[in-house]
Amino acid sequence: MKIGILTSGGDCPGLNAVIRGAVLYGDAVHEDEFVGFRDGWRGVIEADIMPLPRRRVRGIGRIGGTILGTSRANPYQDGRDGASLVARVLEQHGIDAILAIGGDGTLFTANRLAEAGLPVVGVPKTVDNDLGATDYTFGFDTAVEIATSSLDRLRVTGDSHHRCMIGEVMGRSVGWIALQAGMASGAHVIGIPEFPLGIDEICEEVASARDRRRAPLVVLAEGFVPRDAPAGFMDYELDEFGRPRFGGIAEALAPVIEERVGIETRATVLGHIQRGGEPTAYDRVLATRFGIGAIGLLHRGAMGRMVAVRGTDIIDVPLAEAIGNTKGVPRERWDEVRVLFG
Ligand code: F6P
Repeated sequence: MKIGILTSGGDCPGLNAVIRGAVLYGDAVHEDEFVGFRDGWRGVIEADIMPLPRRRVRGIGRIGGTILGTSRANPYQDGRDGASLVARVLEQHGIDAILAIGGDGTLFTANRLAEAGLPVVGVPKTVDNDLGATDYTFGFDTAVEIATSSLDRLRVTGDSHHRCMIGEVMGRSVGWIALQAGMASGAHVIGIPEFPLGIDEICEEVASARDRRRAPLVVLAEGFVPRDAPAGFMDYELDEFGRPRFGGIAEALAPVIEERVGIETRATVLGHIQRGGEPTAYDRVLATRFGIGAIGLLHRGAMGRMVAVRGTDIIDVPLAEAIGNTKGVPRERWDEVRVLFG
């Protein structure tokens, strides 16, 4: 089988490990041939294709980013007939199937193509860990690790200056990174979109930590907005898909805490640092197993499906069930962390 791989949407530590797992397994077990589409669907649209022999993927599993590049293009944009375009490219280049690695936007496109009869399977990725169809996505563990070590550093400088430090982490509309990194770093308050605290509650926890001679550490998910925020407190602009481009909550809250609690407060947005690291061992293993699982799907003819993890098992689910199925932090995880505040 000749398989074309693409990575699309925001990058994520572990993408290279998926590519490596797929190529090594497909080559060894099925004698598959591999090519890569450069920059996600753009490489399909423009037939920008590179060979992916076994030797090209040696040693890439431990490197962050993606050797194929990525973009947020998709074959249906600008009113194009995406399915015909992709079918033509596959035929012209003798490619039998596409392995699409990406987040919800990519999986949406992959599903649309599969529903039009094209041979496509998916591998989910996102640092946000917000896909309901899989217990975990690779990249999340790495992002949590980076966020935790960054928050530990904020605490050190905060301690020295007796300041309140706010760390804002990624997560789009969910609070998984904030919850895990906040718990791991022993934050005094964590703000997540699923269970928004009010400004008063945040200030109380900050004051309580300060009164016990602690430098308060506040962790906020980028999508968090305080329950009692006045109108216009956070106005997010929309991205090209009409979704809010989150960020800025730490900067907005810092002066409020400073004024109400009377403690010098600094805001740090960790931003893309969280996505640029080398994948942790957990993410390398999960990503490699996803790559192997996706080749299994293709050889079973299970088009229109994507790999996922349930417990420690690699399973597969229809792409149609995976898209738009967002998984937020559940109540029991919030209750668990909530008692640790202050
Ligand atoms: O979905 C992954 C993510 O990193 C979010 O956590 C964040 O809001 C967004 O992507 C940032 O996107 P971009 O890289 O386009 O700025």
